[in-house]
Amino acid sequence: MTVQSIEAVVDNEVVQPRLQALACEISERGALRSRQWRRVFTTVRRHVFLPRYLYDEEPGSIPARWRVVEGTNPDDHHEWFTSVYSDTTLIVDLKGQSIPPERGGGSHPIVTSSSTMPSLMMRMLEDLDIHDGHRVLEIGTGTGYNAALLSERLGDTHVTSVDIDPELVAIAGRRLAAHGYRPHLVAADGVAGVSDHAPYDRIIATCSVDRIPYAWITQTRPGGRIMVNLRGPLMRSALALLTVHSNGTASGPFLSTGAIFMPLRHDPSAPYDYTVRITRPDTEPTSGLTSLDPNNLHHNAAWGFFAQTYLADAAFRLVTAEDDEMSLGTEIATPNHSWALIWHKPRDGCYPTSQAGSRRLVNLLERAYHQWSALHQPRWDTFGLTVTPTDQWVYYHQPDNTYLRWDLPLPAPVGVP
Ligand SMILES: C[S@@+](CC[C@H](N)C(=O)[O-])C[C@H]1O[C@@H](n2cnc3c(N)ncnc32)[C@H](O)[C@@H]1O
Repeated sequence: MTVQSIEAVVDNEVVQPRLQALACEISERGALRSRQWRRVFTTVRRHVFLPRYLYDEEPGSIPARWRVVEGTNPDDHHEWFTSVYSDTTLIVDLKGQSIPPERGGGSHPIVTSSSTMPSLMMRMLEDLDIHDGHRVLEIGTGTGYNAALLSERLGDTHVTSVDIDPELVAIAGRRLAAHGYRPHLVAADGVAGVSDHAPYDRIIATCSVDRIPYAWITQTRPGGRIMVNLRGPLMRSALALLTVHSNGTASGPFLSTGAIFMPLRHDPSAPYDYTVRITRPDTEPTSGLTSLDPNNLHHNAAWGFFAQTYLADAAFRLVTAEDDEMSLGTEIATPNHSWALIWHKPRDGCYPTSQAGSRRLVNLLERAYHQWSALHQPRWDTFGLTVTPTDQWVYYHQPDNTYLRWDLPLPAPVGVP
């Protein structure tokens, strides 16, 4: 579809009141705070970047039932327009993940791009404290909507945006250009940043990472800031707002805003692989009991965040019992072949466990829980992140707190699965 065709079906008289209403709605929630960003938000028309989106008609069903909602389709038009001018994340791209033959074969569509909910986008832009004259790099161009917001705020010559998917970049480029914005767009793996336009005053990543790519630090000028969604092995993520220091390090707090961005991926034609691979131990596991309710790992966001920080090199996955007697279990494993399983159904108030290997993972998790309780069960925004050329760690309260810090695991060496 061309940009003209979507423009032809939208009455601009209706767009302004909708944009103003949405601006008030998200201002009320504290996401839109400044005069500058309010002007930008009510100037850039979101529908231009979202002529269609994908809607999951049965969330949670496998396979998902995706329906295309098309602005130019008279049957969809009202639903489309209402959604585009609502505070909603809208999915725009799916890619197939291969299913192994032993599990039926074929492929399963996974979300690979979306337009982030406007209140989250605006909150991140406000929190980044962007000023006139700043140069900004965005990781994750997607629809181009956020690049348009940045271009409207700073002028397009100050904006660079990179996406792993060349097709998305081409489409976003056409839509941006049709509306007079020509930011520097790049189709590449954003993990390397975009060096030819560095240094930046601000970097905003709209996909999540399990470790901050160090190129982002070197490409940000000292005093500059990076907004990034850090994700742990329990898939809990939080927004970190880092300040880059002149000694090549960066640090800053996690924000109270809840945010889950799709993971950064390295293959433009494939989705992020969410499969958690865990090898069961060769040795006979020992059985035990714990009072720690494993359900809370998945349902208590603050505890889940701390647990994944404490056991950052672990893999976690939910499993079901073959005989279904004890139904769900949480399986945990670490690279040194330590392994544990905690069943979710208690027996007389205790949860059955099995563990094997040199690191007693259930005991470590219990220790993590005691430490988190001793700290008065803090939420993620009590913590911060420090990044150096070699190490990255989560700290408690202050970056110079060397006593309470939890290291993020180093990336696996290239070529080692
Ligand atoms: C939430 S969407 C971005 C939304 C976008 N900012 C907008 O305004 O529409 C996340 C994007 O990150 C992109 N992405 C994933 N891995 C990436 C990588 N390694 N480098 C750059 N972009 C990546 C995806 O293709 C996807 O378009």
